This record gives sequence, structure tokens and C-alpha cells, in this order.
Amino acid sequence: MASYEIIGSREKAIAIVEIEDNEKKRQKEIANEIMKKHKNVKAVLKKMSERKGVERIRSYRLLAGEKDTRVTHIEYGYKLFLDPRKVYFSPRESTERQRIASLVKEGETVMVMFAGIGPLAIAIGKKQPNVKKIICVEINPNAVKFMKKNVEINKLSEKIDVILGDVKEKCKDYYGKCDRVLMPLPHKSELFLDVALKCLRNGGWIHLYVIKGEEEIKEFAEKISREINAKNFFIKKVLPYAPRVNKYCIDFML
Ligand SMILES: C[S@@+](CC[C@H](N)C(=O)[O-])C[C@H]1O[C@@H](n2cnc3c(N)ncnc32)[C@H](O)[C@@H]1O
Repeated sequence: MASYEIIGSREKAIAIVEIEDNEKKRQKEIANEIMKKHKNVKAVLKKMSERKGVERIRSYRLLAGEKDTRVTHIEYGYKLFLDPRKVYFSPRESTERQRIASLVKEGETVMVMFAGIGPLAIAIGKKQPNVKKIICVEINPNAVKFMKKNVEINKLSEKIDVILGDVKEKCKDYYGKCDRVLMPLPHKSELFLDVALKCLRNGGWIHLYVIKGEEEIKEFAEKISREINAKNFFIKKVLPYAPRVNKYCIDFML
């Protein structure tokens, strides 16, 4: 059986399926089996590519069900409205979102670079209602539209500011104003470290997401730590990515 993940709610969900070449002839049948097993699944999308480009989106093919693949995903009690065909979203990162949210203290200003449809910001806003402000910068206009909606449906408009544009430009308005910076762009987060450092007010935390081999992560974290003059750092494995390669978050204390 092909592997798949389900995004959405009891009312409407979609399945995203990976189909091996030897199962290709059966793909429609597989899609229908998934829809039969999960009555809430209204459409089945097949992964047709890796995540690519600046926006980190895949190509998909609709194997069965409705053309409208927008869903409202629910995790830890908050709602995330999205269309996987237009934006990045990974339900498997919900535990990591909770970990980050539980680190945020009262009164903090948090910069969420590469904010997508806003799941990190919403997790923080819900878990730490006394956060001062969460600023979200995202370059994909579709993601920004969904993020604005998500801020509204989760009643966080007073806490979360949504900004469309490139982190390199848009963060300038927040230099020296933040206590914590999140950098969830694992393939090239480190290229934006200069911007993250400038965002910090008076020390604070930078959470840098990277994809690295098990053998290289410690040395990599030590190198970055020296470069940015961090006081300390902690490495957290987020998810497996490939054999002996993982997605990590490095929490740098400055
Ligand atoms: C890996 S996704 C993470 C999205 C979100 N933080 C999440 O966890 O679901 C990275 C996001 O960064 C955005 N992005 C890439 N380069 C950017 C840039 N220079 N400025 C702002 N956003 C950017 C992409 O459009 C994409 O939505």
C-alpha cells in the first residue's frame, strides 16, 4: 500500500499520497480505497515532485475527488486553513511548533521569518497569550492570504502582524526590536543570519532550521555559534529527512 498523510478536519480532509512506479497502474484504485477508508477525505493528491523553488511547494496530481483542495487543518486546538497546492505546510511539524511556543515568555516580540500560512505564529499566540507581538514575513502571496485568514479565525489579530515580502527587505523595519527570531527555511536559513542578528534587541534567541547529516550537525552548529558569537546553543532533531540526514533546529542563545 502506498504511504499517505491526511490534512484537514473531520468535515473535510485531503490525502497526499506517494506512489511507487510499480503501483502506478493502480493509483486511481489506491486513491479510491483511501477515500473509502476515510470518509472525511474528499480529494487525493499524488506527490509529483520534491518541494522546489523559493516557495517550497510541490507539484501534485489530483487522483480522485474534488478539485477544491482547500482544507482547515486542526492541531492542538487551533485551525489552519490552507491549500497544499499553493503553499508549504507540514502537519508532521506540530510537535516542534509546540516546543517553540512553550519557550516564548511574556512580553516578548517574536520575528517569524519564512512564516508560510502562519502555523508557528499561531501556536505561539495560543500558548503564550501574553506575547507582546509576533511579526510574520512571507514572500508567497498565496501563503500570506491564508495566513491573514488564519490569524483572523484564531482571533489573534491583535498579536500577529502579517507582512508580504522578502525577509531581506521587510525585516529592516524591525531591526533592534525583537527578542526571538525563528528561521524555518531549512535549505538556506543560514544565509539570512545577518538579518536575524540585526533584528535582536539585546541578545535573545535565534532558532535556525537546517537539514544536515548526523555526523556534521554538531560541527556545523559550533561553527555558526562562533560566527554569531552565541553564548550557548542546543541542537534539537525535528524530523528524519533521509537516511542519516535529519531536519534539526539549533537554538542559539545570544
Ligand atoms: C519551509 S517553508 C516554512 C513555512 C512555515 N514556517 C511553516 O512552518 O509551515 C518556507 C517558507 O519561506 C518562504 N520564503 C522563502 N524565501 C523567502 C524570503 N526570502 N522571504 C520571505 N519568505 C520566504 C516560502 O515561500 C515558504 O512559505
